[in-house]
Amino acid sequence: MSGGAAREHEGGEALAFRGVRKSFSGRGETLRVLDGVDFAVEQGEFVSVVGPSGCGKSTLLNMAGGFESPDAGRVLAGGAEVGGPSPARGVVFQQYAIFPWLTVADNIAFGLRLGACTIPRSEHAAIVARYVDLMGLTGFERAYPKELSGGMRQRVAIARAYAPDPDVLLMDEPFAALDAQTREFMQELLHGTQLAERKTVLLITHSVEEAIFLSHRVVVMSARPAKVCEVVDVGIGMPRTAETRLTPEFIELRRHLEGVLRSQSSNLEKGTAA
Ligand SMILES: Nc1ncnc2c1ncn2[C@@H]1O[C@H](COP(=O)(O)OP(=O)(O)O)[C@@H](O)[C@H]1O
Ligand SMILES: [Mg+2]
Repeated sequence: MSGGAAREHEGGEALAFRGVRKSFSGRGETLRVLDGVDFAVEQGEFVSVVGPSGCGKSTLLNMAGGFESPDAGRVLAGGAEVGGPSPARGVVFQQYAIFPWLTVADNIAFGLRLGACTIPRSEHAAIVARYVDLMGLTGFERAYPKELSGGMRQRVAIARAYAPDPDVLLMDEPFAALDAQTREFMQELLHGTQLAERKTVLLITHSVEEAIFLSHRVVVMSARPAKVCEVVDVGIGMPRTAETRLTPEFIELRRHLEGVLRSQSSNLEKGTAA
């Protein structure tokens, strides 16, 4: 495991998983999901997690969000144990979790207006305007979600997560429901936003290409019961563009990670059949 890409960041762990174990019980059976997961995300670092379906990626993200707790081990945010949900950690889910009764601008402003947010009211309009611009939503400020495409709704969800300036952003397959072309466009928008904002991001994705394109490091999980099986420094300069996806280094990294993932997925199938 290497933290090479992390060295250029401000330093300090924004998020850490230390020996995290988790099982779920039901119908008299216990399903061991996470079996000692260890990795950390540095301040300002963008880390993606890939792994076979059902290996516990969402469970991991839900622990970081404070929606689940580990059976053993520790989940730390800014050095302190995560005890529950906090506005310091913004979350974006796969499904469009924006409020249908609020306009685009009011959805983006939502977190700013909560009591826990300390950003002065006088700054809200400028913040909303900045994210409308970064997410390519200009002209749609007063539109309602039902008037938007799936991709646009997810851009609103991302803008809403960034707006209150959380310490960490947690994203669980935010583009999984979108078609391939929209997904690439969304990745480029998110990358641009990230370069402008330099937040700490933990992204779960089933797409190796998406993980490489966006991240400083990619964490690969093994089949269930899952551990970290590999951590890769992407090492490709930023900003990345559509052209970056066609470079030999990108393609080689993609080939490597897809191979690791394929072998883990076949382990999972064997495990399930047994
Ligand atoms: N609250 C829960 N109760 C019981 N089983 C769960 C619960 N959450 C997740 N699981 C099971 O744990 C495993 C891992 O789930 P999940 O973290 O969603 O995987 P991934 O996101 O990697 O696809 C799955 O088999 C899932 O069915
Ligand atoms: Mg999941």
